[in-house]
Amino acid sequence: MVRAVLLGYNKMDMKKITILDIAAMKAEGRKIPVLTAYGFQTAAMLDAAGIPMIIVGDSAGMVEAGHETTLPVTLDEMVYHTRSVARGARRALIVGDMPFGSYQTSPADACRNAARLVKEGFAGAVKMEGGRRVIDAVNAVIDMDVPVMGHIGLTPQSVHRMGGYRVQGKGRSQAREILKDAKALEDAGVFSIVIEGVPMELAKEITGALNVPTIGIGAGPHCGGQVLVVNDMLGITPFEGKPPKYVKKYAQLADVVTSSVRDYIKDVEDGTFPTKEHSY
Ligand code: KIV
Repeated sequence: MVRAVLLGYNKMDMKKITILDIAAMKAEGRKIPVLTAYGFQTAAMLDAAGIPMIIVGDSAGMVEAGHETTLPVTLDEMVYHTRSVARGARRALIVGDMPFGSYQTSPADACRNAARLVKEGFAGAVKMEGGRRVIDAVNAVIDMDVPVMGHIGLTPQSVHRMGGYRVQGKGRSQAREILKDAKALEDAGVFSIVIEGVPMELAKEITGALNVPTIGIGAGPHCGGQVLVVNDMLGITPFEGKPPKYVKKYAQLADVVTSSVRDYIKDVEDGTFPTKEHSY
């Protein structure tokens, strides 16, 4: 409790957000703000700021580990990130991302691996990419009483099939397939669906066709909520060239870090730090 007070919570705020609260937000016509997080401290700050849902994305592999894609991320790594986030975020719903290869192989693998994200990572839900292709795995995990978030459109784990990170669903026939995936996921019982990298009119059509909330990223303003990779919106990601069009930067933390580190180097080199003030 002392820690909770330090983090700025009161007792009322400590109620854990569940998928029922997310459904209620949609029913009340409220937009659902979502961010990713990968570690304890960031999660604690997002939680204290009032974010209702945190996705522990396999984007960790790119923005935290420096891989070029999310494909090398392992389940052990996702368990580590998810449990770190869960220790920091006492209120937000934690969605643990199922990494590539942890659910596409069979429904039994999906159940075993989703269970690890819940038992060891303390996730309140898991996320899987793909629609009808992974529907048996989605059904099996939901049957095990683990809430599932779908993820359609530009699904980063399909980077090799897509031939790069390209906007999906531009033509009518591809758009229809993505809509069918969304409906199949809703029929299977997912509690929400991330729509990534599709034209905003398609995201609007999908959102209007579903009862569960859609959470957009690079999908325009008509989704039920929005998610960004926290490193992108805080300006920590070292983009070589331009950041993706869908990113809005709310801070330039990389600049703050660089200038702070330069000041520190200078202080140590010229003997300005440490002084008596910092000594025992
Ligand atoms: O891996 C990730 O961070 C994600 C979110 C952007 C939805 O899939």
